[in-house]
Amino acid sequence: QPKYRKDYTAPDYFIRHIDMTVDIGETTEVEALLDIERNPDRPSGQPLQLDGENMKLLSIELDGKFLTEADFEVHAKGLNIPSLPDRCQLRTRVVIDPHNNTALEGLYRSGDILCTQCEAEGFRHITYYLDRPDVMASFRTTIKADRSTYPVLLSNGNPIAEDAEGDRHWITWDDPHPKPCYLFALVAGDLARVEDTYTTASGRDVALRFYVDHGNESRCTHAMQSLKAAMAWDERVYGLEYDLDVYMVVAVSAFNMGAMENKGLNLFNDRFVLADDTSATDEDYIHIEDVIGHEYFHNYTGNRVTLRDWFQLSLKESLTVFREQSFSADQGLGAVKRIGEVRQLRRVQFPEDASPMAHPVRPESYIEMNNFYTPTVYEKGAQVIGMMHTILGDAAFVHAVQEYLEKFDGQAVTIEDFVATLEQSSGQDLQQFRLWYSQAGTPRLTVTEHYDADAQVYELVIKQHVPDTPGQKNKQPMHIPLVLGLLDDSGQPVSLDIETAAEVTPQSPTQALVHLRETETTLRFPNRPSRPVVSLLRGFSAPVKLDLPHDKSDLHFLVRHDVDPFSRWDAGQTLLLRAALEAEQALRAGNAPAFDEALGETFSALLETAGSDDQALLAEMLALPGETYIAEQLDVVDPDAVVGAYQALRQYLAGAMGEHLKAAYEALRPGGAYRIDAGSIGRRRLQRQVMDYLAAYDPDALAGYCWQQYDKADNMTDTIGALAAINDLPGDTREQLFADFEQRWRENHLVMDKWLRLQSTARRDDILERLEQLMQHPIFSLRNPNRVRAVIGAFTVDNMPGLHRIDGSGYRFVADYTLKIDQLNGQLSARLVSCLTRWRRYEPQRRQLMRAELERIQQAGNLSSNLYEIVSKSLAEE
Ligand code: ARG
Ligand code: ZN
Repeated sequence: QPKYRKDYTAPDYFIRHIDMTVDIGETTEVEALLDIERNPDRPSGQPLQLDGENMKLLSIELDGKFLTEADFEVHAKGLNIPSLPDRCQLRTRVVIDPHNNTALEGLYRSGDILCTQCEAEGFRHITYYLDRPDVMASFRTTIKADRSTYPVLLSNGNPIAEDAEGDRHWITWDDPHPKPCYLFALVAGDLARVEDTYTTASGRDVALRFYVDHGNESRCTHAMQSLKAAMAWDERVYGLEYDLDVYMVVAVSAFNMGAMENKGLNLFNDRFVLADDTSATDEDYIHIEDVIGHEYFHNYTGNRVTLRDWFQLSLKESLTVFREQSFSADQGLGAVKRIGEVRQLRRVQFPEDASPMAHPVRPESYIEMNNFYTPTVYEKGAQVIGMMHTILGDAAFVHAVQEYLEKFDGQAVTIEDFVATLEQSSGQDLQQFRLWYSQAGTPRLTVTEHYDADAQVYELVIKQHVPDTPGQKNKQPMHIPLVLGLLDDSGQPVSLDIETAAEVTPQSPTQALVHLRETETTLRFPNRPSRPVVSLLRGFSAPVKLDLPHDKSDLHFLVRHDVDPFSRWDAGQTLLLRAALEAEQALRAGNAPAFDEALGETFSALLETAGSDDQALLAEMLALPGETYIAEQLDVVDPDAVVGAYQALRQYLAGAMGEHLKAAYEALRPGGAYRIDAGSIGRRRLQRQVMDYLAAYDPDALAGYCWQQYDKADNMTDTIGALAAINDLPGDTREQLFADFEQRWRENHLVMDKWLRLQSTARRDDILERLEQLMQHPIFSLRNPNRVRAVIGAFTVDNMPGLHRIDGSGYRFVADYTLKIDQLNGQLSARLVSCLTRWRRYEPQRRQLMRAELERIQQAGNLSSNLYEIVSKSLAEE
């Protein structure tokens, strides 16, 4: 039952307009009147095949005449009518049951409100329809409901009529912009409204309305400010103004993902709306700004110009993530933001690209579309856009995006349409570059260097290789933009003069963009009186794995001198990663890990700049490559050795920094009240990093600091910082702080998620019993994805020792709950199980245990299509 990209055909019929009435009661009745038109480019006389699931058909009328059973056929996935006139009106009436919809797709209940999620294919759970993005209609929606339970009734567009009678009322919304049904939204409930206005560059007033649970009104301030900042940014950078009079955002507590860009009516996971200083951390504030920006930017990249089919998902998502990331970097954290993105890409997307689920940024096939909202489509896709931005240059790129938006306004288009527009607009040849959309797998660059002292020539040979992935072998070389510079032996940037067959674009006198297009590229730098040190992949100019040619002393040198913050950070990460991998090897051989003194010196020297340097960057420099990233480097993963190596490295560095850690901690204490600006965020991040080392260096001292910090904190960043630092340490302080926190916050589910998350990632022998206890907590529910992700999700991604317990109990736990949750919510279960899919990479005993759990799931039967696809692909022969 997979669908293939190559099988795309235009629809036989279009729906130009839909007039629907949603009558909410015990169950919900949906009446839909569709204006249908035959697609003149398709043969006439084709059957009409409407999508529709989980609904009961009450009646169906064609041009005012009721159809009888003989005129149509209803099946589990929809409804067929054998033949239709070229133009007609079809009226259906169905009954759906939002109150028992636990999949959170279509119309469902979250707490006391009803809301929708239609992307990707949720609309077919609301009414019979052509549920595909190339069918675009104007929507008119009337909602009828009980007045006291559902005083607020929302849908896309503008309200045009309303009335009340007895204890019922109704309202009609009209959205003139034709849109695919995945952008439809409806909300009914008792919600508070927070309102503000934004005046666009051309002077139009837009009403900005946030709808939240009563009592949360004061927690929208940051989201509201972020929205205004995003609107201003899109005007300033892309010249794009908002196009309706109202922009609505509704905070929903049971939501499968982050948020949804429905036209004029965004629905948000409440964790990306609600914040105030006492309950939200710096990271929460940043995430809110990012997600608000992301959904807002979709109004053009996604809504005004939408997708032809779901294989094109990355067309809207990667461009929108790219725009979100540019916006976010402009809001203050700059290069550090970029480093965070790379860390995340390496932690989640590189592993996906090397897994049985590996797929190109534009997938060729899928069984369940919801499984393709992946780090590859989003994050790798954003890097692909970023590379085109690098190749074209900022001004030409922005101009080309503007041309694309104008040319395809109101249409449903493809990735090819986008790339071709960039090409035509800029005059750049992107033919070979398109391979980034079709070839899966992370390319690897291997660089060797040679210095000829007599000839005074420095030479680099760069080889690229794209690994095989399921269904794709023997790939072609890609067009990889590689940004580089050279430093001389005093650490000064060198004026570049490059001899090579490859195309080179100078970016400054000391920095160049080299276009790698061949399997092997040679770069010669003449007139180098001494051997320079090369700084490669500046700004992470391409999403590749890079084997640096440098020896350790070069890396130490780059950590001290590189002018590019990313490459400087990455040189440090490479040093740490190599040290961790040596330790891992030692542990597997039964030896004690040993580390160079130089490593300790370089990193303690960094700590000593804690007062002066960019503190946010310093925090990143001091943070170790995570366990998952270390494991990612290994052909065969032994989790014990990985965890042991990580701990040994941390312990060693903590020892090298020694008493300086305490001085640094004291010096980084807050000077005044909580402020959320880049400088203060940097200071707090660095302090947190220092505490992490302190936990290894002097646990007793740390416990004292945590106690004080928790006690004095006027903000959630410092409060959670204290709990996080002490999380893995035994002793009373930890228990007391966690207990106090629970007392203080038990009413606030978003804050309690942090408490749950920390405990599920804690390293302790009784972790599985602890998880079961957490799930007994009154705040927990298997039906709320945020709670499930805080307990089970966090355990699967951030508790390597717990998940990989050698008795297999961690895997069994995951499989048990995956099956349980799959009965309720297939999108959620499919995400949880992904921690098992790379079983082939593990040492034999774990491999066996993981595989056994996957097989148990497979044999359980009655799986959601989501879970079925992930499990069967991961068990398939390679
Ligand atoms: N379009 C939404 C966003 O990126 C995400 C929708 C995810 N949908 C899903 N079924 N997983 O903002
Ligand atoms: Zn998106």
